[in-house]
Amino acid sequence: MIDGWLERKEVCICAGSGGVGKTTTSAAIALGMAARGRKVAVLTIDPAKRLANSLGLPELGNEERRVRVDGLSGELWAMTLDPKRTFDEIVDWHAPDERTRDAVLSNPIYQELSNAVAGSQEYMAMEKLHELHQEGRYDLLVLDTPPTRNALDFLDAPRRLTEFVDSRTLQLFAAPAGIGLKLLGRGTGVVFSVMKRATGIDLLADLGEFFRSFGGMTEGFRERASLVNELLADSRTAFVLVTSPRRHALEDAVWFHHRLMEAGMPFAGVVANRVHRAGGAADPAALAELLGDELAARVLQSYEDERRLAERDRAGITELRRRIGRKPISEVPPLHDDVHDIDGLRQMDEYLFG
Ligand SMILES: Nc1ncnc2c1ncn2[C@@H]1O[C@H](COP(=O)(O)OP(=O)(O)OP(=O)(O)O)[C@@H](O)[C@H]1O
Ligand SMILES: [Mg+2]
Repeated sequence: MIDGWLERKEVCICAGSGGVGKTTTSAAIALGMAARGRKVAVLTIDPAKRLANSLGLPELGNEERRVRVDGLSGELWAMTLDPKRTFDEIVDWHAPDERTRDAVLSNPIYQELSNAVAGSQEYMAMEKLHELHQEGRYDLLVLDTPPTRNALDFLDAPRRLTEFVDSRTLQLFAAPAGIGLKLLGRGTGVVFSVMKRATGIDLLADLGEFFRSFGGMTEGFRERASLVNELLADSRTAFVLVTSPRRHALEDAVWFHHRLMEAGMPFAGVVANRVHRAGGAADPAALAELLGDELAARVLQSYEDERRLAERDRAGITELRRRIGRKPISEVPPLHDDVHDIDGLRQMDEYLFG
């Protein structure tokens, strides 16, 4: 199935809301395509430690590593992109008290800054994607996306960052220390002194440095941002939307699909992950004879639970179909164990490609 979606594609972007299985699906798609003869690199974000281990990925480092797997006719490469860490978390952790924390979080400069930095991490992932695509060393690049609170942040990242680069804030940060800070207004100094005390990082100095160099790249940056946008919209790119069959995730998926369509992005299909399936009918009498009354009752009960879940999931998927139209949906059941190694990924293969 998914090999069909990805025919003649060079980039596959797995998007979706938090915790639905984006990282796992990206890795499984990459492995599956490598097993079908392609030279594939998967760019993952924050994989579970065990998965990272089984892909042979070190904790940090933006280097692609060859993943040795028996019986691949193609090649599998993997790299982790630095996990997205928002400033909010840092402040939340380290602020001495609630008042300070709220003061920092509600500071407009802080907000603009943290949004831009959060956006920049998402953006960096796409820049990396673009760079690898330019180099042309792989047949297919699979990009995992970060667990954004709002899945759309990801699509907006190039625009937001361009805006930020053009904004007054950036120019102020890039100004010599002191002058910029004064112009930014009262209260801003507090933000940075709290962060300095809490984290030991002289954020202001670092940021000044960062933005000064950033400011120098503005022209090239805007150009690259538009190239990244072109790559996202290119017919050689495929967006795969990952969702769970639960209501909340489905709502996100429908909205995300809508946004992709609106933006003219090449949508390939949906991976519905952890969809329960009902088995055939159970025969209570036969079960009782086989297992005894007590055990048979328990088996029947769990069978009944499973049937209900399957019913609920079926209704969810039907609703999804109704709302996104005739788009392919690939269903993956809940696997017995967490998917944390090559064997687990291989189990997903059967459903994704079957
Ligand atoms: N079909 C499945 N059956 C069983 N476990 C699964 C399945 N799909 C994913 N998992 C497990 O669910 C957990 C979350 O999956 P994953 O990390 O891929 O989600 P994610 O969408 O990338 O999350 P985040 O938004 O936090 O990045 C992992 O422990 C993974 O092994
Ligand atoms: Mg993930």
